[in-house]
Amino acid sequence: MSSDEPTLPESTVEATPQSRRTVVQTLTGFLGLLLNAIPITLGGIFFLDPLFRRRKGDEFIPLSITSDAIPTDGTPVAVTVIADQSDAWNLYKDVPIGSIWVRRKNDGRLVAFNSTCPHLGCSVDYRASNNDFYCPCHTSAFDLDGGKKNVIPPRGMDELDIRTDDSGQQLLVNYQEFLGGTEEKKPI
Ligand code: FES
Repeated sequence: MSSDEPTLPESTVEATPQSRRTVVQTLTGFLGLLLNAIPITLGGIFFLDPLFRRRKGDEFIPLSITSDAIPTDGTPVAVTVIADQSDAWNLYKDVPIGSIWVRRKNDGRLVAFNSTCPHLGCSVDYRASNNDFYCPCHTSAFDLDGGKKNVIPPRGMDELDIRTDDSGQQLLVNYQEFLGGTEEKKPI
């Protein structure tokens, strides 16, 4: 060998197979981690999914009362809302999920209110003596259109969408619950 030919440093020549081994080991380790992470992640998503699943806000639930059972004189009727309910990992069929007041207005239209008091969550009653809604817990009172009649509740009763099906008789409500103690009507 001529002394003019370039030569690689000895350490470089010996380190090359070692470096290759290191790269292969790193890649193998990374692939192993990836292959383990995929099923763990998918399993975690499946396991936690019920915690993040919520009833959509546009589901109309059939009520156990027909339209012609709502009095024409405007007297409200209490109706229990029955539907399927799921907690984190269980599904319960046909259970009471809340209650509402339904009444017919002077023009014949139906209105529905969640019976949960927007003050602190007690149940609002119909007070026949005053022809209004009344919450016995802290004396919140509401008119028959759900408007607040005193300063105790932060807002009026929470109105819900209600309609009939194509037959014109079966009542359906878009049942929702709302945060208590706030002026704003915030679904929860
Ligand atoms: S919870 Fe109804 S008045 Fe307080």
